[in-house]
Amino acid sequence: MILAPSLLSANFGCLEKDISMINLSQADWFHIDVMDGVFVPNISFGQPVIKYIKQLAKKPLDVHLMIVEPQRYFEDFLRVGADILTIHFEASLHLHRSLEEIKKLGMKAGVVLNPHTSVSLLEDVIECCDLVLLMSVNPGFGGQKFIENTYNKIEKLKALTIKKNPNCLIEIDGGVNLENANKLISLGADVLVAGSCVFSSENPIETIKQFKTIL
Ligand code: DX5
Ligand code: ZN
Repeated sequence: MILAPSLLSANFGCLEKDISMINLSQADWFHIDVMDGVFVPNISFGQPVIKYIKQLAKKPLDVHLMIVEPQRYFEDFLRVGADILTIHFEASLHLHRSLEEIKKLGMKAGVVLNPHTSVSLLEDVIECCDLVLLMSVNPGFGGQKFIENTYNKIEKLKALTIKKNPNCLIEIDGGVNLENANKLISLGADVLVAGSCVFSSENPIETIKQFKTIL
């Protein structure tokens, strides 16, 4: 299983310290949350900050775009160092084209579903996805409570990927912690994002280690 700590919960006054902590830890990816204040009711950070993170990060950057019209910025995010680019189903009018463009640029391409968006809507596009990210909170903020219906969605998505694209990874984002991680993985999740659970713990390196031993 892949663990991707979300830098949204890091200390931006001292970002270098949190980036080297993740470098030293057993975490696998950096999860990077980009919010535009339109698609979600919050603004985070953009390309200049990601460029800085890339200079220091020794692990892949998993960039989660919570922005409208994400296709306008694919090349920009490639340039600043995104390895994986995930775009929201709800923000993509021409999802198939967008996924193909991301892959053509040499990045891994993923679709994100909000909690209200049904997994069945992926039936005709799942074969184009390197990964699917299921939001287990409403996007926009760290530190929210996990939505239990996500468990049903993982089961449905797992059945769909087995049938149509067994290489597609399943990623879960929002309210993930050491209590629910086991169940998420046993139902079929491959990638867990963890923000506040890692960064608000007393010893983040140890918390990451605990995630990796559970799973
Ligand atoms: C929420 C973001 C998440 C967030 C997760 O919109 O997509 O990646 O940082 O934070 P936690 O783990 O605290 O729910
Ligand atoms: Zn995210």
